[in-house]
Amino acid sequence: FHIDMDPQAAKKGAYPYYMLKEIDEQPGVMRTLIQEYVNEDGSVKIDQELLDALSKADRLYIVAAGTSYHAGLVGKELFEKLAHIPTEVHVASEFAYNPPLLSEKPFFIFLTQSGETADSRQVLTQVNEWGYPSLTITNVANSTLSREATYTLLLHAGPEIAVASTKAYTAQIALEAILVKAYGEAKNIKAAKDFDVAGELTKVANGMQELVDEKGDIEKIAQDMFATTRNAFYIGRGVDYALAQEAALKLKEVSYVQTEGFASGELKHGTIALIEEGTPVVAIITDPKTAAHTRSNAQEVIARGANVLFISSRDVAAEGDQIILPEVDPLLSPLVSVVPTQLLAYYVSLQRGYDVDKPRNLAKSVTVE
Ligand code: AGP
Repeated sequence: FHIDMDPQAAKKGAYPYYMLKEIDEQPGVMRTLIQEYVNEDGSVKIDQELLDALSKADRLYIVAAGTSYHAGLVGKELFEKLAHIPTEVHVASEFAYNPPLLSEKPFFIFLTQSGETADSRQVLTQVNEWGYPSLTITNVANSTLSREATYTLLLHAGPEIAVASTKAYTAQIALEAILVKAYGEAKNIKAAKDFDVAGELTKVANGMQELVDEKGDIEKIAQDMFATTRNAFYIGRGVDYALAQEAALKLKEVSYVQTEGFASGELKHGTIALIEEGTPVVAIITDPKTAAHTRSNAQEVIARGANVLFISSRDVAAEGDQIILPEVDPLLSPLVSVVPTQLLAYYVSLQRGYDVDKPRNLAKSVTVE
């Protein structure tokens, strides 16, 4: 008889699926990025030519697809708050229709785990024709987008096999933070100079470890709240809304539950009509500035029968919140708040008996437009 060995099986080791292994690898990926890009004295090792080219820009365009686009949403917060550069984030397939470039000196950043996404490559080809500078941040050395951009930075996250991207998302955000630190310092901006990126990413790595060690709690929540549902919502504000969009994609693509990542303040403008008895709603609350508002939005959906799961940071947690996140820099909170949402997607898919690593209709790298 023939043992049908998955060629990568050896690398999966004791894990039932790559997705779980790759979620668990995230604390280590943070530490690897610190090793690769930050010196002992806290200064950042980023190519000076790249920093010079970035410093000449008057506007950044982050272009990506799927989960990488969601990492770009967090990158916008980081670039604008720590380096004071206007930053636009675009879904690659939408950017391909030439929106007006409101900039004399644009700089393009492509976020792409595979480095082969056709939608993103189509935009890079256009950018090269325009003659503008570009940076590709990718997990695959010598990939197409890495070779064709002016500059490239590697995620050093190790091969990501599961179709649902997890460690590449957190690695992209961490590397954006490292790049912003170097770039903001080059522009002599106090917010960037005060930002201890190595220290903050170390706190993130420790926080991620705590969360992956408590995965049994998430497994139970998946069973209790998501066993039979056909739809769900993630709600939040600011970076919590950016995270809500990534969390929704994860749940959709591996468990086929119709999920929306939604701005919590926007629910009352129509979408709250969808809330029924028992609809699962996950409230992401990490920012002290928006915590009270998101909590009141959560009360509105509870009043309409929703089943609300609160994922909150320790410093803004309230009695009854089911998942408490370790405190990290508010700009980096998606790096810890994403972990329970990745695990939730994994367990809901597993409990429904699906092939978590190879969801229906999906490919790991979408090389068609
Ligand atoms: C993420 O879980 C998805 N598999 C998908 O959205 C992916 O992020 C997207 O296709 C972009 O891929 P890339 O990062 O390799 O460009």
